[in-house]
Amino acid sequence: MTPTVAIVGGTGLTALDTLKITHRESQSTPYGEPSSPLIYGDLAGRAVVFLARHGTHHTLPPHQINYRANLWALHRIGVRQVIAVAAVGGIREDMAPGVLAFPDQLVDYTWGRHGTFFEDNLSHVTHIDFTEPYCGELRMRLIRAARELNLDARESCTYAATQGPRLETAAEVRKLERDGCDIVGMTGMPEAALARELEMRYAACAVVANRAAGKAPGAITMAEIERNLVAGMNQVKALLERAISTLGEAHSS
Ligand code: HPA
Repeated sequence: MTPTVAIVGGTGLTALDTLKITHRESQSTPYGEPSSPLIYGDLAGRAVVFLARHGTHHTLPPHQINYRANLWALHRIGVRQVIAVAAVGGIREDMAPGVLAFPDQLVDYTWGRHGTFFEDNLSHVTHIDFTEPYCGELRMRLIRAARELNLDARESCTYAATQGPRLETAAEVRKLERDGCDIVGMTGMPEAALARELEMRYAACAVVANRAAGKAPGAITMAEIERNLVAGMNQVKALLERAISTLGEAHSS
């Protein structure tokens, strides 16, 4: 059966070992190649497709990801719901490493990325509504699954999308905090907006990998991030199984 649900895995989740893989498919799109082949399989009894956002071997930095090709390829095969998994830094006090967070708002600080499908051969200019950047219903499914599994999760927060690939300065994080942001990552945009342009439901499950710059003493190391993500991603895998098992076939629009 063709999957209508996709999981886009980020840092710490370049493969989904809970997925019973049926086949892989390389795609090309009018926008170029997606980050990785599409991995088709079965998760909790449902057809699911997995895409590794940073590439199979984690070689694509956030600003070089072909977000348009990724979303286009998923949409073309029939995906209508996207669960995005992403590592973030924690800005808010209660966003400690290992915590899961389900953003309901975002602020976009990225630049120079291809952020729309609506720019070539236009018959009219299109402005999508983006008041609520995440799908409320899909978010609630993730939140409900986290509650059922007793996971340490934050159900409302604002995601700051920064350009990367460098981490932020302490002053930049203080500015993000003044802007009302609670977590910070580098891949949430334009992914969320492109999904909306294609009328796909989109929700994010963020895993706090580190305290954001200046929020804990000392430098942030990749070793620290990777260590925290191992435990966090195990929780995410359990969450995904639970959430996916509750998805009805009716939610394909
Ligand atoms: N900032 C931006 N992106 C991130 C961070 C961070 O501190 N940690 C993991 N992804």
